Order: sequence, then structure tokens, then C-alpha cells
Amino acid sequence: MSRRKIIIDTDPGQDDAVAILLALASPDELDIIGITCVAGNVPLPLTQKNARIVCDVAQKTDVAIHAGCDAPMRRPLGTAEHVHGKTGLDGPDLFEPTMPLAELHAVDFIIETLRREPAGSVTLCTLGPLTNVATAFERAPDIIPKLRELVMMGGAYFEVGNITPAAEFNIYVDPEAAEIVFKSNVPLVVMPLDVTHKVLATKERVNALRALGSRVGIFTAEMLDFFERFDVAKYGSDGGPLHDPCVIAYLLKPELFQGRHINVEIETESKLTLGMTVADWWRVTDRAPNAMFMGDVDTDGFFTLLTERIARL
Ligand code: RIB
Ligand code: CA
Repeated sequence: MSRRKIIIDTDPGQDDAVAILLALASPDELDIIGITCVAGNVPLPLTQKNARIVCDVAQKTDVAIHAGCDAPMRRPLGTAEHVHGKTGLDGPDLFEPTMPLAELHAVDFIIETLRREPAGSVTLCTLGPLTNVATAFERAPDIIPKLRELVMMGGAYFEVGNITPAAEFNIYVDPEAAEIVFKSNVPLVVMPLDVTHKVLATKERVNALRALGSRVGIFTAEMLDFFERFDVAKYGSDGGPLHDPCVIAYLLKPELFQGRHINVEIETESKLTLGMTVADWWRVTDRAPNAMFMGDVDTDGFFTLLTERIARL
């Protein structure tokens, strides 16, 4: 299988960090052209710092890390320190990263990369609010048809909201950006809470990572020890949901996931349901399908893949 060129757009966040580690551990399949950071879980200065820390921990410091948008397109930033802690990466002992931050703004990096690379060769993997990507699409619509695919973590249907009763965080933070992406006709694969809530980092699974005994294994376990608190308290779940790693797992083993190609539209007006992904799961409208919206995942297969790959770092 030829290596897939990817750009990871992210707002680390412990689950983002695990997704980045999974990608870094898979160089035979994935060629990470760059990591672009966006404001989301915590403000941009922290998300870019956290991305650099994660690459330092994995000793993969040849990946370009770019800082992008520090606020949503049309509204003030809302963050999630209540989930991720003040640093955004609470859990392990953190440190000043040695990895440099690239000069080029993330939006310019996305545009220049997609204009340079052969059409259909680059996949965008978004793990946070869609601000960077939507800004790039608005500024340079010519790059949209050049994309191979956009695989994202965001939204929900049966699981409804995690930040409001109706909305999932990544969409809620920047619903206008999400609307641009969902209306762009880009080939879209969506990992909603409907699947991410099925990949829970239980004590047994976290201890299997800790038992690797490596710096990365222990760092990952310590992140997940902290990360589970919000979901355990809110849902009584047996561990934290590994939202963002689903995006990378899909690239490595798509057969782990099942979904439907359906229409998904974004609520951008209503105060009550702002950021809701209105997914026509039952195809009750004549709205054109625009997203492969995932509904199920092989949980054991996911964790077998994750643990085996983290063991490689
Ligand atoms: O709702 C979950 C998503 O919001 C994940 O990407 C998590 O990192 C936060 O960004
Ligand atoms: Ca994220």
C-alpha cells in the first residue's frame, strides 16, 4: 500500500495527542506532511505547544508544526479546560518543547501544500474545530477539488451533544466553519460521537499502554488517566472516549468502521441547537448525501491497533 499523504489539523487535547502518536507510529502507511494547530480545547498558544510536546515525546521532530487561527470565523472562542485541564494536556509532567514552530501560518500552509501536491494525493485529518480548514477553503476554493478526502472527528446523531444538549464540541465552537466544510463537496468521512463513545479507554486498556513501559506508553496512560474524568462524571462511562484517534485508525484500518453515506447539515442560526449536525440517517429528506457518517466501530480491533502501534514508539 503506498503511503498516504496527510495533514493533521488539531487542538491538543489528550485525545488529539493520542491520534498524533498513532499517526507518528505508522510511517509505512502515513506520510505526515504537516501538523496544523487551531484554537479549540485550549487557546492556540497552548494547542501549538502541546503538538510540539507530543512530537518531542515521540522523538519525531522532523514534522513541521504550524500555528493557525486563534478564534472561530464569526464568533468568540469557547474552550474546554473543564475536560482537558488548564494546559490542555493535563496528566503527565509537561515540559518546554524543543521542537520549533514553523513560520508559515497554518492556513497558508494548507493552501500552499494543496496547490503544490498532485491532485487527489493529500488527505486532511481534522481533530478540532474546522476554522483553519474553512478559512483555507474560503480564501482558496481551488484547493477543494485537489483534496483526496477530509476525515474528521465531529458531530453526533444518536449520541446528540457533549457540550450542549444538541451539539458536539468541534462543531459547536465554529459552526460557520463546519457549514463551509459540509457544503464544500469535499469527499467527507465523519467520526461522530456515535462511534467515539464506543472506544472507551477503560482501566484495563490504559494499563496495557502503561505496561509497555516506554516513555510514550507511560505518557499516553498518564494523559488518559486524567482525560477520562469528564466523561466518567457526565456519562458514568468506563473510561474516556478516544474521539480523535478514530480519524487515524480509519486511515490505517477502514474496515474497523461502518457508516452510511448521508446528508449532514449544520445548525448555525438557532441558539437552542447551534452546532447540531442534522444527520439524515434515515434518509427522510431529498437532501443530497455529502458525508460518510460513521455509526459503528470494532472496539477491540481499534484498541489492538492502537496499543500495537504505540508500542512501536
Ligand atoms: O467532542 C470531542 C472533540 O472535541 C475532540 O476532538 C476533543 O479533542 C475536542 O476537541
Ligand atoms: Ca480535538
